[in-house]
Parts: sequence; C-alpha cells; structure tokens
Amino acid sequence: NPRVRIAPSILSCDFARLGEEVRAIEAAGADWVHFDVMDNHYAPNLTIGPLVCEAIRPHVQIPIDVHLMAEPVDALIPMFARAGANVITFHPEASRHVDRSLQLIRDQGCQAGLALNPATPLDWIDHLMDKLDLLLLMSVNPGFGGQKFIPSTLAKLRLARARIDEHVAAGGQRIALEVDGGVKTDNIAQIMVAGADICVAGSAVFSAPDPDGGYSGVMQALKR
Ligand code: DX5
Ligand code: ZN
Repeated sequence: NPRVRIAPSILSCDFARLGEEVRAIEAAGADWVHFDVMDNHYAPNLTIGPLVCEAIRPHVQIPIDVHLMAEPVDALIPMFARAGANVITFHPEASRHVDRSLQLIRDQGCQAGLALNPATPLDWIDHLMDKLDLLLLMSVNPGFGGQKFIPSTLAKLRLARARIDEHVAAGGQRIALEVDGGVKTDNIAQIMVAGADICVAGSAVFSAPDPDGGYSGVMQALKR
C-alpha cells in the first residue's frame, strides 16, 4: 500500500549514533522522522530538545515531525521552527490557548498538529479544524517507547477519519491523521484500515535492524 507512511520514532534509537540512525531510517524508506520531546512535567520522562533537532537536520531530507509532550508550548514552537522542524504537534492540555498555539506554529512556517491522549475527547477538534494540518491520536499514554497499543484507539480513529473526511468534503483543507504508540507489523494493517494516514513506530523499527545494520526489512514489513 503506497499510501501508508511511516514515521520512525528516534526515542528508541541508539542516541550515541544519532546521525547514522536517522540516515539509516531515511535510506530504509522512512517518510518522516518522529521526534519525541518530553519534559518530566507534562510527560514522565526527559528526552531531547531543539539543539538535537538542529543537529540531525543536516543528516536527512525527510520532514522532522516534532511531537511536544511538554508544557508550556509557545516558547518551544519558534525554537523548533528555527531548528528545522517541519511539523510541530502539541497536546491541548499543555497549552493555555490552543487556537493561538496552532496559529503560532503556522506563522513560524510549520505544519500544525494537535495530539490527543487515549482519554482525551475527540471533541477538542470541534472548533479547530481549519487550523489543523495534522491530528495525532495517541494509542499509548505519553512517556515511553515500547508500550502496548490500547485497542479502544481504533474506534476513536474511525470517528476521527469520518470527521476529517467530512471536513474535506465540505471544502476544508486536508488534515493528516497520525497514530502513535504500540504500532507493530502485526497491528498496522487494522490501524490503516481504521483510517490512519501515517503511523509512528519506535521500538518496532529500532529493535529490529537487518543483519546489515539497516532498517529496510522492518520498514517493508510495516508498509506491506
Ligand atoms: C510515546 C511516544 C511515542 C513512542 C512510540 O510517548 O510519543 O512516539 O516513542 O514508541 P513505540 O512505537 O515503541 O510505542
Ligand atoms: Zn510521539
């Protein structure tokens, strides 16, 4: 299925070899680099920031998909835009003024995304559709790679697909629908059928390198 796009999450990569890792996933056919930002406040982990985004930017041509699990978000947005991010996504609970933060992302020349946790209602998008370039549905709770896919995400994903299709049919812009957490070769088909355009895959990609050190095998299995 050529419509399936994969965004490997570098959260599960070997950070001591970060440049090589992002080059390897691009060579294997990754569509985006998924970049998980956690602050030990919004999310119970501490990861990477704009300096690391800037450091990987020259190593790949594909878009860098920044997933902010940090608060507040408004100061981080221009920093990541300057660091070469293409997509910037945040959680509505992490911004005092969600509409303003979405607009700020677009004003910085990036695509704007909203991320909804498993328990966060889809209703958040009701009055924001025109401002969204991407909707990210979390299928695990933010914090760690390697967690198990939460099955109730599939019903929410179907609803989100219908909402986006309605919006486009009514003349609205396209909104990419991304699923993040617990995506594996054995559940990606049903996630795609339920309506995802793009899937994040962290541990599935980085724990399964080919004997030659690349990731082509797992990337092909995910796209099949
Ligand atoms: C979770 C992160 C995810 C995570 C995905 O807080 O947002 O992007 O790294 O990793 P896997 O695919 O291992 O669930
Ligand atoms: Zn993520």
